[in-house]
Amino acid sequence: MNARTGILSGTDLVDEIKRLKEERNAIILAHYYQKPEIQDIADYVGDSLELSRKAQETDADVIAFCGVKFMAETAKILSPNKTVVLPDLDAGCSLEDSCPPDKFKAFREAHPDHIALTYINCSTEVKALSDIIVTSSSAEKILAQIPESQPIIFGPDKHLGGYLARKLNREMLLWPGVCIVHEAFSETELIKLKAQHPDAPVAAHPECPAHIVDHADYVGSTSGILNFAKSFPGDTLIVATEPHIIHQMEKALPEKTFIGAPGADGNCNCNICPYMALNTMEKLYRSLRDLTPQVHIEEELRLQAKKSLDRMLEMAGGTVGKGDLGAR
Ligand code: 13P
Ligand code: SF4
Repeated sequence: MNARTGILSGTDLVDEIKRLKEERNAIILAHYYQKPEIQDIADYVGDSLELSRKAQETDADVIAFCGVKFMAETAKILSPNKTVVLPDLDAGCSLEDSCPPDKFKAFREAHPDHIALTYINCSTEVKALSDIIVTSSSAEKILAQIPESQPIIFGPDKHLGGYLARKLNREMLLWPGVCIVHEAFSETELIKLKAQHPDAPVAAHPECPAHIVDHADYVGSTSGILNFAKSFPGDTLIVATEPHIIHQMEKALPEKTFIGAPGADGNCNCNICPYMALNTMEKLYRSLRDLTPQVHIEEELRLQAKKSLDRMLEMAGGTVGKGDLGAR
């Protein structure tokens, strides 16, 4: 027995996870920012919106959610009768941390004529205080359906909000949160990298600050970036989002080169999401074996949060996998 992991030495984690999955009638959902071995064992790998839909549609009894807490909570909000396990319950998000519910409530109360359009990267409490949730793949489509005359609060990601405001020429009151991962890309290092690869386009996630997005040929969600990677005509692509997504690109297009955009130190290690990285194969195995840690949400809060998520799912329509925000 390994004292640190509590797992018998010699256990074949891949075989055991597959066996437990059958035994539990479980589905493994993974975000593109998960470690390659987790992506490879998942039943489905997707962006936030796609994973929400899968969680809602599945007839599995157990959802093993390999992502961060707000994603697993979204799965529980949409599928309350299923057991939802998250391999590491400490897998949070800097955007969620930036937006405490009491402060968000006060902000809303200070602007009673505004509706709250809120990025899914937030707590269940903040979802319950919001009118409509968006993901990066659905935000533009949803915002375009809101009448011009309606004032809007957008939170918690000021970069996604700023990008949408510029693209749709729409003024919004922005909550000042950032993703620490996308914030860490360096414009200076990106310019140097572009000079080394003058023919390589740049694909960026809209969580990046404007000084990075301004260098992008394509801006979109993780699924959108992946679709762009599959369709761009060249042989090298610079990828300005969490670098684990490159695993899917290399699997789909082994003949092409994908380079993670650099941070200030000139490499992309500082752009690995420290929260996503908390999930490991050992923890996934234990979560299926012991059905813990589980996500629990108090029913009144769940029903309140579900309203804003249901609005997103209605308004997003068939956005799933369509490539979303598109060229700048
Ligand atoms: P998407 O998968 O919706 O692009 O979101 C990225 C993200 O921030 C995950 O934490
Ligand atoms: Fe949150 Fe950024 Fe990590 Fe996504 S990449 S979970 S937004 S900290």
